[in-house]
Amino acid sequence: MRASTHSIFGPPGSGPSAAEQLARSQMIRPKRVDRITDLIGNTPLIRLHQIEQDCPGVELWAKCEFANPGGSVKDRPALRMIQDALARGELQGRRLIDSTSGNTGIAYSMVGAALGIPVTLVMPENVSAPRKQVTAAYGTELIFSDPMEGSDGAIMLARELVEREPDRWFYPNQYANQSNPLAHYHGTAVELWQQTQGRVTHFVTGIGTSGTIMGTSRRLHELGRARGRDVRCVAMQPDDAMHGLEGLKHLPSSLVPDIYDASVLDDTIWMSTEAGWDMSERLATQEGLFVGHSSGGNVASALQIGKQLAERGEPGVVVTVLCDRGDRYFVPLKWEKHYAW
Ligand SMILES: Cc1ncc(COP(=O)(O)O)c(C=O)c1O
Repeated sequence: MRASTHSIFGPPGSGPSAAEQLARSQMIRPKRVDRITDLIGNTPLIRLHQIEQDCPGVELWAKCEFANPGGSVKDRPALRMIQDALARGELQGRRLIDSTSGNTGIAYSMVGAALGIPVTLVMPENVSAPRKQVTAAYGTELIFSDPMEGSDGAIMLARELVEREPDRWFYPNQYANQSNPLAHYHGTAVELWQQTQGRVTHFVTGIGTSGTIMGTSRRLHELGRARGRDVRCVAMQPDDAMHGLEGLKHLPSSLVPDIYDASVLDDTIWMSTEAGWDMSERLATQEGLFVGHSSGGNVASALQIGKQLAERGEPGVVVTVLCDRGDRYFVPLKWEKHYAW
């Protein structure tokens, strides 16, 4: 039998040079880390080849925040809020408590379990079953607020509990904690700048606590202006108080987060639930990206910006965020210790 002379990258003669092979093997070298929190951040940026065909001449890119180990964009602020509190000695002998629509709760639970910090979460009783089950699986204590009061009800109940027993709790309050946007200022924005080689022209993402849009936009504005140009930063909000874009806030009918500062933003896009859901489906079937509905709303917003640029014949590099995976919105089998066959 003749020994194969095929390169592992392709047929003879078409393979990469030895230098290219070495570079590739270094790029794909498996990581070894000390603990799970070391896997937070440095997420891939992916080009949306199919979607961007609707805006010729404009590039659409998305930051894969679902690739964080807790499965969402909220791993970054959860880690940063906990690290900053540890550094200030605020977590000594206390339980972490916060209100969350889910992803931050999963992130607190994961980071808390990894760093030995007990966690209590207040969430509206009607959040999806997977969110309750996943946080409980990390050993987190759950307290449910009135489902009719939404995420604002959870915020008010958490505040009440902290006021009643201030020494028992460490309350990071993601809506008012500057460590939340700072995680994106020091992480997400810098990574986006590097990943686009400073070519990003527009950034757009939805508002939950506003941490992602505030921190990322502030830094992108600075990085752009230092090079004599601006990066246009656009927020997305659901277009109605009663919406189905989980994780996002319709600010005109909600408590406005203390960390929200409208002066950082160049514009706001109002997104319908239907358009966000439709784009989530399109991302799954056309790009192989099965992501949640806020991500669908984000990409629909990026495409809206891309189309406006294309109509004017202007080039652009529009970047947005894929906040979490679509399977987070399925109802899983109950986690059982014993199976009956
Ligand atoms: C699914 C989802 N998308 C988007 C966001 C918005 O992120 P931010 O809180 O940084 O505004 C959140 C926040 O919890 C979320 O859970």
